[in-house]
Amino acid sequence: MGPVLAEDLRYLLRCYRSAGVWSRIHVVVRRILCPFDAVMEVIPACGKHLDVGCGSGILLALLRGRSAKQELCGVDASAEKIEQAHLARIEGARFGKGIGEVRGELFESVSLVDVLYLLEEVEQDRIVEMCSSALRQGGLLVVKEVERSTGWRHCVATAQEILAVRVLRITMGSEVAFIETGRFADLLRNNGFDSISTRRVDRGYLHRHVLFTARKRRDEDR
Ligand SMILES: C[S@@+](CC[C@H](N)C(=O)[O-])C[C@H]1O[C@@H](n2cnc3c(N)ncnc32)[C@H](O)[C@@H]1O
Repeated sequence: MGPVLAEDLRYLLRCYRSAGVWSRIHVVVRRILCPFDAVMEVIPACGKHLDVGCGSGILLALLRGRSAKQELCGVDASAEKIEQAHLARIEGARFGKGIGEVRGELFESVSLVDVLYLLEEVEQDRIVEMCSSALRQGGLLVVKEVERSTGWRHCVATAQEILAVRVLRITMGSEVAFIETGRFADLLRNNGFDSISTRRVDRGYLHRHVLFTARKRRDEDR
């Protein structure tokens, strides 16, 4: 285990000390399995950031640990997850149930980390459209997903998610459908984004993690 990961785990356990033991285990497992470093690297270090489908708020906790300058906000469809996020001590972060909580606000950056694979295509489109409405012109959308693939890695990833969504019900969702990179880039383009970049961030990880960044088009570029 590298020193950054070990330090993050100690920090997360401190943040989540008031949450239940299962929440703390979940936070630790998420930090180990998901390349949050790659996600945080592209999020601007200051300004207003919104995490959609924030779960118990791990990304926002890690961002707060790196910088005190961002205004952090997280929304999730699950009331239980929002309750867990409220139990975490993440200085200055706000949490709310559903993206409606931030209607009318504009953010410099918005993230979606492992949310879309749980949704049907039409729902994915709706969430991307809502993220676009929450961004100021030129703002940055950051999406981390697991890419659809074949072979044993795909089987392990699918089995793990089916366990989380349908058996243990740790995660709320209707689907387990990993993302198809080409279709998703088109979806971003159709929702007013440009400067779309896609890269694999799965070195040293079990799953085929992929990171998308895209800028909301300015009115003058439409
Ligand atoms: C796999 S978890 C990821 C949580 C968090 N982003 C993380 O990286 O730890 C997926 C999250 O998406 C949330 N979610 C599912 N559908 C959603 C929707 N339509 N709107 C907002 N959140 C949603 C779930 O409740 C769950 O907390």
